[in-house]
Amino acid sequence: MSAMTYEQCLTKSEKVAWRLDDELAADRRLDWSLPAVPPSLLLRVESFSAREQLVFSHVTANSYCHMIKLFEAFIALSLYPHVELFAPRSEQVARNRAILRVCDEEYKHQQMFERYNAIVARELGFAPALFELTERHFANPAIASAVAKVLVALVVEYLSLDQLKAVNKSGATIDPLFKQVLTLHAVEEAQHIPADELVITDLAAQLTQKQRDIAVRELIGLLAIYDTIIQKQDELDNATLARAFGRTLTDAEQATLALPHLSPRDFASCVSLRNPKLVRFVSTLSPLASDVLAKKAASYDRNAQHYHQAP
Ligand SMILES: [Fe+2]
Ligand SMILES: [Fe+2]
Repeated sequence: MSAMTYEQCLTKSEKVAWRLDDELAADRRLDWSLPAVPPSLLLRVESFSAREQLVFSHVTANSYCHMIKLFEAFIALSLYPHVELFAPRSEQVARNRAILRVCDEEYKHQQMFERYNAIVARELGFAPALFELTERHFANPAIASAVAKVLVALVVEYLSLDQLKAVNKSGATIDPLFKQVLTLHAVEEAQHIPADELVITDLAAQLTQKQRDIAVRELIGLLAIYDTIIQKQDELDNATLARAFGRTLTDAEQATLALPHLSPRDFASCVSLRNPKLVRFVSTLSPLASDVLAKKAASYDRNAQHYHQAP
């Protein structure tokens, strides 16, 4: 249950909102002498030179922003149908505005990530290949309940906060531009969480317990899209790395790079699936939640030893 009302969500969201052109001018530069992703959260490729490892870090950050951008599109798609055009009561008006505000900000975030991708492309001298999503990849979202779809939005929002926390916790000095992108995103996502929890609570109130249990299972099915995106993007990154390094990657390097580039345990969805606030909220819907989320989170732990700081 969200502790806030839609009206409070709006007020808080308006307080922290930012304008893209004020924060992230298109002519900004990256600092290639620093990593973008903290070394402790990035796959270790022993044969890469120091410079190559830094380029790998920036290419991974670039891909990561693109992957989150793909999810932002899904969030807007999941929330928008819950706007009630006929809204005679002031609570309904506040609810509509809160939902539309989240959607608007998700589109703004997409523009921010695109701008970051454009800056990286300009500085590399070529545009890295980025995975494109089609409706086919959404594992037939038509059959997933509305609750499951908004739950995906919630997971991605917790992820945005958790990724920034992981970066801060690493203690690494990273490229200021990438850090700013993560921070700008997290500041607004923190305000989306209570709004999404209110929408989910409203929707779940109309469901039977069995339907709520199904929604939690459907959430895990929808998260499989995330895994697909990571895998496909990591494959595309190999060609980007070879071009940026000016050499072909060895078979051994390609074998190592078949593992997720980002440490999923520390940086990606596994973290938010273990976020106690998320687990507590999803558990209000279904008693299955903690088991289902823990099982999915554990599936990301397999390759932990391949990163700089194995947990
Ligand atoms: Fe976002
Ligand atoms: Fe959001």
